[in-house]
Amino acid sequence: MMLTFATPLLLALTAAARPSSYAVWGADSAISRGQGNGLSSAGAAQVSYEHGEFQWALRLLLDRTGNQTYYNYILKGANNIVYDNGTVHGSYTLTDYVLDPIRTGPTFLYLYDKTGQAKWKTAANTFRSQLNSHPRTAEGQFWHKKVYFNQGWLDGIYMGDVFYTAYTAKFDARNATAWADITAQFQLMFDNTKQLPTAPNNTNLLYHGYDYSHTAVWANADRGHSPEVWDRALGWYMMALVDTIELAPPSSGALRTTLLKILQTLAPPLRDAADPKTGVWWLVMTQPGRAGNYFESSGSMMFVYSLLKAVRLGYVPDKDGSIVKAAKKAYNYATANWVIDNGDGTMGWNNTVVVGSLNMAGDYNYYISQAITLNDLKGLSAFILASLEYELL
Ligand SMILES: *[C@@H]1O[C@H](CO)[C@@H](O)[C@H](O)[C@H]1NC(C)=O
Ligand SMILES: *[C@@H]1O[C@H](CO)[C@@H](O)[C@H](O)[C@H]1NC(C)=O
Ligand SMILES: *[C@@H]1O[C@H](CO)[C@@H](O)[C@H](O)[C@H]1NC(C)=O
Ligand SMILES: *[C@@H]1O[C@H](CO)[C@@H](O)[C@H](O)[C@H]1NC(C)=O
Ligand SMILES: *[C@@H]1O[C@H](CO)[C@@H](O)[C@H](O)[C@H]1NC(C)=O
Repeated sequence: MMLTFATPLLLALTAAARPSSYAVWGADSAISRGQGNGLSSAGAAQVSYEHGEFQWALRLLLDRTGNQTYYNYILKGANNIVYDNGTVHGSYTLTDYVLDPIRTGPTFLYLYDKTGQAKWKTAANTFRSQLNSHPRTAEGQFWHKKVYFNQGWLDGIYMGDVFYTAYTAKFDARNATAWADITAQFQLMFDNTKQLPTAPNNTNLLYHGYDYSHTAVWANADRGHSPEVWDRALGWYMMALVDTIELAPPSSGALRTTLLKILQTLAPPLRDAADPKTGVWWLVMTQPGRAGNYFESSGSMMFVYSLLKAVRLGYVPDKDGSIVKAAKKAYNYATANWVIDNGDGTMGWNNTVVVGSLNMAGDYNYYISQAITLNDLKGLSAFILASLEYELL
């Protein structure tokens, strides 16, 4: 009698149990909701940088767990946006010259490695050729989009240059022009957006973007930068630094040393910008504690991933352990406050801001007035990446 009663109860408990790894739990939950699969919520093919970020996290998780479910999900998602002949579809138009779609390119290179199928190389070549004719500032910085005349955004470094590096490493490793170009993309962005010690509320970090022609409504008259340090833009840039350094082969010239220097310059002030009480970071980092500002989860998890990976791979010294300590504190806040146990075996993810663009005022009120959503894939993917690093400690 006990047995017949206990068996279904045990099964029910097992079904609702969460995986012990947050990385696995986050990924399985997103997959169960059909997120990041190359389709929009309406089911239309969609080339999306968020899906590219998620696929990057799934690849790392596949390496960690060997679970082929993740491989199959990556393949299915990429097949949804690339025809058999290698044409990229899903609202992608090369001559729109947008950097965002290129973030899915590392997935194509990965699948070319795994399958040897020509379609993936054809698709990657499309993105690579976009970069050859992509509009640039007079200094050589890629515009974030053709419609954003002369503007470099931190976001674009993650979207375009991780792919540019991975492609060059794989197919064009002796192309010194390409290596110098990638190095310049990072350096120009740093030089044009770094806060100066004379700035009010200086953080020693990077403003969201700059307008080389100084004509955008938000452009600072002096250097053309936007007014605020936005956490997610800096998060993209930090992730691009650690991922690109890892991909850079010996033939890449000054790329590695240039990026290491930038990373070592940014890591200590980033550690110091965390809120002392919670350990996480403000949405608008230049105005901590101001009414309307809040702790934002996507940027915070991008920082945890970047800082832990930078220390683990020896890119940034951490003699007193303060960088790892700061990252751990932030991560523990996230699991206690931003992870939601849905009670059905899946988790939800809270407090990620939907968007932050420089297509409007780019000021404090703009950033704090943007919507926050549940299960935003930009934030959840960053949480999976942060978890992968945390779980190695
Ligand atoms: C692999 O991942 C899927 C979900 O993404 C999960 O249902 C399955 O149990 C996992 N398999 C193993 C062997 O862990
Ligand atoms: C590639 O395949 C798609 C879908 O079948 C088709 O619409 C397109 O014309 C093809 N492109 C080329 C260059 O063959
Ligand atoms: C080398 O890279 C440069 C810069 O991206 C590009 O213009 C050129 O076409 C590349 N050369 C080859 C042989 O692909
Ligand atoms: C400096 O930070 C304080 C506190 O967040 C804020 O109230 C103030 O507006 C900031 N000043 C500038 C110029 O950003
Ligand atoms: C998400 O966070 C907001 C603000 O912190 C909170 O009001 C809301 O209840 C949270 N959502 C869930 C489902 O926990």
